[in-house]
Amino acid sequence: MLYGRSAEQGVIDRLLSDSRSGRSGTLLIRGEPGIGKTALLDYAATAAEGLRMIRGTGVESEAELPFAGLHLLLRPVLDQVGALPEHQERALRAAFGLASVEAGDRLLVGLAVLSLLSELAEDGPLLVLVDDAQWLDRASTDALLFAARRLDAEGVVLIFAAREPFTAPGVPELPVKGLDVASAAALLNTAAGTSVAINPAVRYRLLAEARGNPLALIELPAAAPSDGTALPLTSRVQDAFLSQVRVLPEATQGLLAVAAAEDTGDLDVVLRAAAGFGDFLEDLHPAERAGLVLVDAGTMTFRHPLVRAAVYQGIPPSLRLAVHKALAEALDRPDDADRRAWHLAMSATGPDEEVAAELERTAVRASDRSGYAAAATAYERAARLSARPESRARRLTLAADHWVHHGDPVPERVAIAERRGRAGPAGGGRQPARTGSGLRDRTGRRAGPGGRRDRDVAGRREPRPGQHRGAADAALLPRRDRALPRTAPGRADHRHRGPGHRAGHGARALGQPDERLPGLSRRGGG
Ligand SMILES: Nc1ncnc2c1ncn2[C@@H]1O[C@H](COP(=O)(O)OP(=O)(O)O)[C@@H](O)[C@H]1O
Ligand SMILES: [Mg+2]
Repeated sequence: MLYGRSAEQGVIDRLLSDSRSGRSGTLLIRGEPGIGKTALLDYAATAAEGLRMIRGTGVESEAELPFAGLHLLLRPVLDQVGALPEHQERALRAAFGLASVEAGDRLLVGLAVLSLLSELAEDGPLLVLVDDAQWLDRASTDALLFAARRLDAEGVVLIFAAREPFTAPGVPELPVKGLDVASAAALLNTAAGTSVAINPAVRYRLLAEARGNPLALIELPAAAPSDGTALPLTSRVQDAFLSQVRVLPEATQGLLAVAAAEDTGDLDVVLRAAAGFGDFLEDLHPAERAGLVLVDAGTMTFRHPLVRAAVYQGIPPSLRLAVHKALAEALDRPDDADRRAWHLAMSATGPDEEVAAELERTAVRASDRSGYAAAATAYERAARLSARPESRARRLTLAADHWVHHGDPVPERVAIAERRGRAGPAGGGRQPARTGSGLRDRTGRRAGPGGRRDRDVAGRREPRPGQHRGAADAALLPRRDRALPRTAPGRADHRHRGPGHRAGHGARALGQPDERLPGLSRRGGG
C-alpha cells in the first residue's frame, strides 16, 4: 500500500491506458534513495496486469561492462531477435557477445532495441521497467534512450527509475519528493506497528529528519531507542545515503565528516577545523558538484539530513573524538560557548568535571531562554561527565525537572537517566511529574509561559507501547518545531539528540567498520 502517491500513480495510470490505445510513452522517475521509486515501478507492474512486461535493473558492480544492463533486461526475449532486420540482429548479438562479429555501430544497437520493443508490442501493449538506471552501463543507457526517444505508436511504455543526478534527455521526468506530513505520519504509524513505542519527541524527530523519505520512515523507528533520544540510522538507510559520498575523493569525504559533526553548517568553523586534517575549501567542490551539499553565504548545508546523519555515523568512533575536538578548538568566539561545550562533551573519553561545568553553564543559558529540552539534555550530559556522585545526582535532578517543563514523557526519561547515572533524582522513587515546580525552586526562575501547556502535555503524556497519536500530532509539528529552540541551546539540543547520541548508540549498534572514511582515517585517525 502506497501512501501519498496518488499524483504519481495517476501519471503511471495514464501511460498505461494510453498504451492500451496503442500510444507509446516514456517516463523517468527520479529521486533520492529510499524515496519510493522502486515502489512506483512495482505499482506500475501491478497496474499493468495482463500486459506483457519486461523488467531490468542497473547493477552498480556492472556499471563498467558495456551492454550488461541491456542484456539483463532483454535476456527473457532474446529468442525474438530473429525477427529483426539482419544487420540489427547482428549488432545486438555482437553487443551481447553472442556473435563473433566486431562490435557494431552503437546507433544500430539502439535501433535494434527499438525494433525489438515494437516487435514485442505487436500482440498488445508492452511495459518496460528499468530500475536504478543510474547504475546502467553507458552503452545500455544510450541504446535504451535512443529507443525511448523514438517510440511513438507501438503501445510501449518505458519507465526508468533513477537517483539524482541521473538525467535522460528527451524523456519526461517525474520527480519524486518526500511524502506530505500526513502521509509520512501514517506510514510511520504502520511502520512502527505495535512493536515499538514511539513517544512524541521521537515521532517529531523522525518526521523531521526523514523529510518524508519512506525508507527512513520505515527503518528508523525500529532503530530508535524508546528513550526518545537517539536516532541511529539502520545500515540500509546509511548505505543508501552514503553510497554517493563514498565515490568522492578522500579529502572531500574528510571535509564532509567534519561538516557532518558541525551541523549548524558554519562554513568558517568547518574549514578551520578541517584544516587540521589537511582538508580545505577546494575539497568541498566535488561534493557540491555531486549535489550533496549546498554552499551559500558562509553556510553549508547537506542536501538531506540523512546524508549528514549517514556521513556522521560513518566516521570511525575513534576519529569522531578528534573531529569534535578540532571543532571545539575552532569555536573560539564568546558566542560559540554553547557549541564549544557540546563538542568538548562529544570528544570527552571519560568523566571530566571541567567539561561538565561548561555544559552546565550551557544548560543555565538554555533554561534562561526557556529552552527546557536543550537545558535538560545538557544537564543530562553534564551528569554523565560528572566525576563526583553528588554532582551527578544534582545534575540529573535538574535534567528531570527541565524535561517536565518541556513536557516530555518524563518517567521513561528519568528511569533511563537513573539507569545511566545510577544516581537517580531523590533516590529514584519520586514521581517526576510532580517535580514541575521544583524547576522554579531550584533555579529561582519562573516556569515560563509554557507552564500550563506543559502540564496539559504531561497530563496526557506517556504513550504506552504501541500507542500512537496518529496523524493528529503531525498537525503539532510546527508548534513543536517552535518549541524546540533554534538558538544556540536549541542547536545543542539537536546536536545531542543527533550526533551525540548516535555517537553513543549508532556506530556501536551497527558495528561500523572503521575504514568508512579512508581520507580521515589516514590523516587524522592514527
Ligand atoms: N508511498 C509509500 N508508501 C508506503 N511505503 C513506501 C512508499 N514508497 C516507498 N515505500 C517503501 O519504502 C521503502 C523504500 O522505497 P523504494 O521504492 O525501495 O525506494 P527507492 O527505490 O526510491 O530507493 C520500500 O520498503 C518501499 O516499499
Ligand atoms: Mg529502488
